[in-house]
Amino acid sequence: MTGEIEFLTSGISDKNIQKFVEDLLFKHEKEFLEVPSSSGFHHAYKGGNFEHTTNVMLIVQSSYNYKINLDIAIAGAILHDVGKIKCYSINKKRIVHTVRDVLHGHFLHGNRILEEAYNENPIIPKDQFDEIQHIILSHHGPVSQGHGSIVDPMTMEALLVSQVDQMDAYLSHIKESKVNLFCR
Ligand SMILES: [Fe+2]
Ligand SMILES: [Fe+2]
Repeated sequence: MTGEIEFLTSGISDKNIQKFVEDLLFKHEKEFLEVPSSSGFHHAYKGGNFEHTTNVMLIVQSSYNYKINLDIAIAGAILHDVGKIKCYSINKKRIVHTVRDVLHGHFLHGNRILEEAYNENPIIPKDQFDEIQHIILSHHGPVSQGHGSIVDPMTMEALLVSQVDQMDAYLSHIKESKVNLFCR
């Protein structure tokens, strides 16, 4: 199963950032590859969050023209929804919210998982860690939109991830809703 995680991180050129992300994901590998991304809105099936994460990573990875720090943006794209591993489980093929999801949500869980990984394995400079953390904390767009962000996206990398995240979630929602778009 290691191929999936290595594929996700293969576009990160800084070896320490790449190792930090890989070590974090390997620690939670089974849940990360299996968890759905939601219980209904988008990618609501086993492995859905990995599929969503892959989509967001691939689009962000191709965004080199915006003069962003691509390694930070890719790392943030890969980790933005990692907190969902504590939020959902699958029981007899049905998606269930965990109590922890209801009480805390995936922003807090994602932040905890990231901080735990950094405390165990501080192999990247703190300012890089802060920028990746900012992407997790702001990835649902401006706080005023009320979609769960803890802070507004304030870096180009965070802005990019939040926009791509919204786009992929919405496209998946339309696909799963089987809405007729132009008769397809
Ligand atoms: Fe999210
Ligand atoms: Fe997402």
